[in-house]
Amino acid sequence: MLDEDTRFDWAESAERQREVARDMQRKMNELVRTKTTDREAGPMRNDPAAYTDPQWFEAEKREIFRKMPILVGLTRDIEKPGDKMLFDAVGPSILILRKKDGTVGAYLNMCPHRAAKVVTDCSRNSSRMTCPFHGWTFDLEGKLIGFPGKEGFEGIDREEIGLIKVPVAERHGMIFVIATPGDQEIDIDAHLGDFGPELAQLGLEHAKPVKKSRLDVDANWKYALDTYGEGYHFSTLHPTSIGLSAMTDVMLYQGFGPHHRLGFPHVSAAEESQKPESEWAEKPYGGIHMMFPNTVFNISTLERYAADGVPTIGDNKGPDHAFGIYRMFPGDEPGKAFTMMATYRTGRIDDEEDTTPWEQFHDFIENVVRTEDYSVSKDGQNNLEYAPEDFRMIYGSNEISLQRFHRQIAKRIGRPID
Ligand code: FES
Ligand SMILES: [Fe+2]
Repeated sequence: MLDEDTRFDWAESAERQREVARDMQRKMNELVRTKTTDREAGPMRNDPAAYTDPQWFEAEKREIFRKMPILVGLTRDIEKPGDKMLFDAVGPSILILRKKDGTVGAYLNMCPHRAAKVVTDCSRNSSRMTCPFHGWTFDLEGKLIGFPGKEGFEGIDREEIGLIKVPVAERHGMIFVIATPGDQEIDIDAHLGDFGPELAQLGLEHAKPVKKSRLDVDANWKYALDTYGEGYHFSTLHPTSIGLSAMTDVMLYQGFGPHHRLGFPHVSAAEESQKPESEWAEKPYGGIHMMFPNTVFNISTLERYAADGVPTIGDNKGPDHAFGIYRMFPGDEPGKAFTMMATYRTGRIDDEEDTTPWEQFHDFIENVVRTEDYSVSKDGQNNLEYAPEDFRMIYGSNEISLQRFHRQIAKRIGRPID
């Protein structure tokens, strides 16, 4: 809710981020110094069916994408009463809006008359919505308030036929739905567990949307997601992009139930890790955060702010973050997926300020993901479709987050990996 109870303590956030960033830096420098990475006990094998089997795929859509809380956007995507957005990535078209009292409502975007889509254009802020087919009109609570040709619907109680509710929750600046009709509360704190406080300190409720795009990929949605989960491929797949700044095969893994945070040390850590801590540079908070089941938060500090060593730490405002939020969704078949990419900037920057650096950040990541990660995913997926029956993929002990992610998915659809 965008009211007084979302007052955000930037000073406390900056302090907490500084502590976490230093703790991560210590752990990463230790990994670098001792030439190792966080690991699982050993490698793990996985059946290609996880990526290719239509039944497996249907089970994921049903048990995961339509039963679990799925992130649909951030608070400022629908900031003011009457603001709306649509979410149709997992099947049903869902309308999410800001109500008059500041809370969020979600409904099937389906007219109770003959099921047409009520809202097709979210660009207009309005307190009522009129179905384009025959003009039934609804308010932000989903109530039917206008009803042309009433005589034809004698005996139908208008009070009983509003828009159908979908469970929705807003927490720490994030908006979630469960994409199956119902009006139960979503227990987001239970879903996030210990990961909740880690996200809470980012001030996402104030983050401003800058750029969005959709990236289609000819690979299973998990193949796409896997590419965000290890730094083992940096120097080989990204020699001229990410591989220039991040070390290869050195990863800090911090698990929070099914969610995780990953730290990839900067190449300068090779030198820094040899020095006493008192000589280390202060690093801004950042890292890859994976919120189960399908969302990656890429928390970065833009270069222009980081150039002189995180100028804003200590001024009670926190560093100037870019939040890249990448959500993977199953496509029309096991070997197809799409990523909804969105970049937000920290809410501590003046709304009037030029957004170009954040747009460039968005484009840079999108380009790397499309031309490097997803092109490998596509070829790998095709090979999996034709692999011999006894072929098994191997996730190394260094690919710890992949191992844990795939175990979680398999468990949730009732096909646990032993
Ligand atoms: S389907 Fe919406 S008014 Fe007829
Ligand atoms: Fe990559």
